[in-house]
Amino acid sequence: MSVMKLLSKLARMWLTRTTKPFTFHNDYDEHLRFLECSNLGLYVHIPFCKKICNFCPYCKTAYQEDLANAYLDALLQEIELVGERELGQTGEKKQVTSLYFGGGTPALMAERLGEIIAALQKYFVITEGIGVELHPDNVTKETLTILKAAGVTKISIGVQSFQEKYQSILGRKPVEIEKMSAVLREVPFETVSMDFIFALPEQTFEDLKADIDLAFQNGANHIAIYPFIDFTFTKSAVPVMPNRQKRKLLDKITKYCLEQGYIRSSIWTFSSESHVGYSSMTRDNFLGFGCSATSLLKDQFKINTFSVQEYIKRVEAQKLPTSLTIRFTKWQRMIYYLFWTAYSTKVEEEDFEKFFGVPLKKAYGFELFVARMCGFVKKEGGKYEMTLRGAFYYHYFENYYTLAYIDKMWGIMRKEAFPERIVL
Ligand SMILES: C[S@@+](CC[C@H](N)C(=O)[O-])C[C@H]1O[C@@H](n2cnc3c(N)ncnc32)[C@H](O)[C@@H]1O
Ligand code: SF4
Repeated sequence: MSVMKLLSKLARMWLTRTTKPFTFHNDYDEHLRFLECSNLGLYVHIPFCKKICNFCPYCKTAYQEDLANAYLDALLQEIELVGERELGQTGEKKQVTSLYFGGGTPALMAERLGEIIAALQKYFVITEGIGVELHPDNVTKETLTILKAAGVTKISIGVQSFQEKYQSILGRKPVEIEKMSAVLREVPFETVSMDFIFALPEQTFEDLKADIDLAFQNGANHIAIYPFIDFTFTKSAVPVMPNRQKRKLLDKITKYCLEQGYIRSSIWTFSSESHVGYSSMTRDNFLGFGCSATSLLKDQFKINTFSVQEYIKRVEAQKLPTSLTIRFTKWQRMIYYLFWTAYSTKVEEEDFEKFFGVPLKKAYGFELFVARMCGFVKKEGGKYEMTLRGAFYYHYFENYYTLAYIDKMWGIMRKEAFPERIVL
């Protein structure tokens, strides 16, 4: 066992106050108890892309019209199963924050997203807008107009880089920036986010600064800058940047964005206006629909099958397409809460106590004291805020977590539709 693995295992045992690992089983609930969840968000996964990128770990497959339409029909049924079972008798609707469509490339199915939104609105009232991911090729007047008419308020475009050199490293074609910019002016959205990947071979701060400036000058009011992650199961041949170099880059990007007056809305995201945001991750609870979609409820986390065919089969048999479920102990749920809330770089004492009925100080007072002493967080009033240093270590740990846990889980789930159990 590597030192990092051992340390992470010990940290997990300490923080969850148990030697029990995170264990996912294939037994699952047909009723998802989401009515008891406050701050609930919705997520819908559309696993189709026109061209598959070999660095990408997400659940996706090449677009075929018949399969995509059959999948959308199943998606409507899954929404109906989940909504009807909890709310059918009451005739009431559950208030949710936001709805995000991710993928794959959901904008490829722009014409049918309105049906999905309507199916969800039968059971849910969405209060903070609807977001959709697009490939730069989807940024056309026609597609944006369809999305807007369906009620979409936020879009996120997978730019990756405005520079040909890095697009070619990633095996993608260059982005036509003037064309994209003109369309974005013609069909405006409340949030226009652009995704970039950093820590590509030989990438410098100047390269990234140019990308950030171009994004904000050409229609974005929000950017996400993700570190490149080399998943073991992808066919990517992109070399990984050493950690020390990565840290320098992350620090420089962060300082530059803060100097420009941009607001850090999460570890990887910055916005130019305070009211804009694009994040399907920073919600206390969420319900996910579609293959590979996850749901996080008060006492459990579940993940749907990655197989499009098996997903359709399960739903057609009037069963939920859940592949694996973990039922949390109280401490496991607390750590899960803190890990994902920390992604927004802030944790509020009041929110924690409202969620768990236990003061944050009582649960993790000692650990937070140590984190403050090490300069990872600072406290203002009832709010813990991550420092630049803390943000780097969070990033470092998240990277490790992604490779040790998500990589293992997704690697298995891409091969097996319904594995019996996964221990992390
Ligand atoms: C679902 S895609 C976005 C929409 C669209 N499919 C596209 O590629 O333009 C989500 C984002 O994940 C990021 N991503 C994908 N693979 C990654 C990897 N190996 N490391 C870091 N970020 C990655 C990319 O920035 C990508 O835009
Ligand atoms: S990066 Fe986007 S377009 Fe490429 S395979 Fe992944 S989801 Fe599809």
